[in-house]
Amino acid sequence: MEVAILGATGLVGQTFVRLLENHSWFKIKHLVASERSKGKKYKEIAEWVSGDIGDIEVESLEDFLKNPDVDLVFSALPSSIAGKVEEKLAEKIPVFSNASSHRYEDDVPILVPEVNAEQIKLIKFQQEQREWEGFIVTNPNCSTAILVLSLKVLSGFGLRKVNVATMQAISGAGFRGLSALQIFDNVIPHIEKEEWKIEKESRKILGKFERNKIIPTDFEIAALTTRVPVSNGHTEAVFVELDEDISVEELRKAFESFDPLKELKLPSYAKPIIYRKIPQPKLHRELGNGMTVTVGRLEKIGERKFKYVTLGHNLIRGAAGGSILNAELYFSSLS
Ligand SMILES: NC(=O)c1ccc[n+]([C@@H]2O[C@H](COP(=O)([O-])OP(=O)(O)OC[C@H]3O[C@@H](n4cnc5c(N)ncnc54)[C@H](OP(=O)(O)O)[C@@H]3O)[C@@H](O)[C@H]2O)c1
Repeated sequence: MEVAILGATGLVGQTFVRLLENHSWFKIKHLVASERSKGKKYKEIAEWVSGDIGDIEVESLEDFLKNPDVDLVFSALPSSIAGKVEEKLAEKIPVFSNASSHRYEDDVPILVPEVNAEQIKLIKFQQEQREWEGFIVTNPNCSTAILVLSLKVLSGFGLRKVNVATMQAISGAGFRGLSALQIFDNVIPHIEKEEWKIEKESRKILGKFERNKIIPTDFEIAALTTRVPVSNGHTEAVFVELDEDISVEELRKAFESFDPLKELKLPSYAKPIIYRKIPQPKLHRELGNGMTVTVGRLEKIGERKFKYVTLGHNLIRGAAGGSILNAELYFSSLS
C-alpha cells in the first residue's frame, strides 16, 4: 500500500519515515510539508536518511492536495492546520492522525490497539454519518499513549482514582518547540492544555463502546505535567486507587502478562509492557523498537493503593509508531 506522510520534515514526520523505511505493508510515496520545505530533497532536511527515500522531493501540502493518489495518509501536521486538511482527505482516503484536531469528536476513535481495539468499529459509523469513503483515526497525545497501557491493566481491578505527574522530553514540543536556554538546567511545570488532554483522552480511550458510541469511564483523574531536559522519552509518576485489594506481586504479574495483540502478527507489534526495577528514559525508551513502555518502582502505599513509574518513547509509542500500529490493526481487521 502506498502512503503519504504529512508533516514529514518534523520530529514525528521523520520518525514515521524511519519506521516505514523497510515496512512490509506500507511504502512511502509522498513526503509533504510546508512551502518552506517544498522542492528540497528529503536528505537535505533529514541528514540521517540513506537510500532512495533521501532522493524524494518534499512536496507542499497545497500541491499534494491537488492529487492525493495514495492508499492511506499518516498525518503529523500541527493541529492548527490539520483539522480541515484531514477532513478533506478523509472524504476518499483513510487518515491516521497525530494531531488533536479530531480527537474529541464523538465519531472519531482515539485508538490504542492494546487498549481499545473494539473502538475501531466506530469507523464504519463515521463513514456512514459523514458520507466518506475514507475516515479519520487518531492516536492520543504522547503522554496519554504511554499512560493508558498500564491503566488498562489496572482497570481489570476496578480503577477508581489516578494521579499522575509527568516528566516530558523536549522532543514532545516539536522541532521548534523550546530554545536551549529555556530548557537547559531547568524544569518547566507547564505544558499548554496537556493536563486536560491526559484527563479527557484517558477517559475516552478506556471508555465503553456501546452502539456506535463511546461512553467515557468515570474514574477520577488529575494530571500535572512538566517539561524536563531529556531528549526523548516521557516518564510518569502514577498514584492509583483500585476497587480490589491485590498484592504487589499480583499487579506486577498482571503488567508483565498483558499482551493482547500477540496473536495478530502485526509488523509493528512489540510486547506492550516490560517491568524494570528503576525505569529511566536513557536506558529503556528504545525497548521493543520504541513501542514498549516500561513500568517499575511499583509499591503498595495503602489498602487498594499503589504507586509506580512508567515511561515510553514519545515519538514512537506516543506518536508515529502508535499511528502505524493503528493502520496495521485496521487493515488486518479487513482480511
Ligand atoms: N512531538 C511529539 O512527541 C508528538 C507526540 C504526539 C503527537 N504530536 C503531534 O504531532 C504533530 C507533529 O508534531 P511534531 O512534534 O512533529 O512537530 P514539528 O516538529 O514542529 O513538525 C511540524 C511539521 O508540520 C509541517 N508544517 C508546519 N506548518 C505547515 C503548513 N502550514 N503546511 C504544511 N505543513 C506544515 C512542518 O513542515 P516544515 O518543516 O516545512 O515547516 C513539519 O513537517 C502535532 O500535531 C503534534 O501535536 C507530537
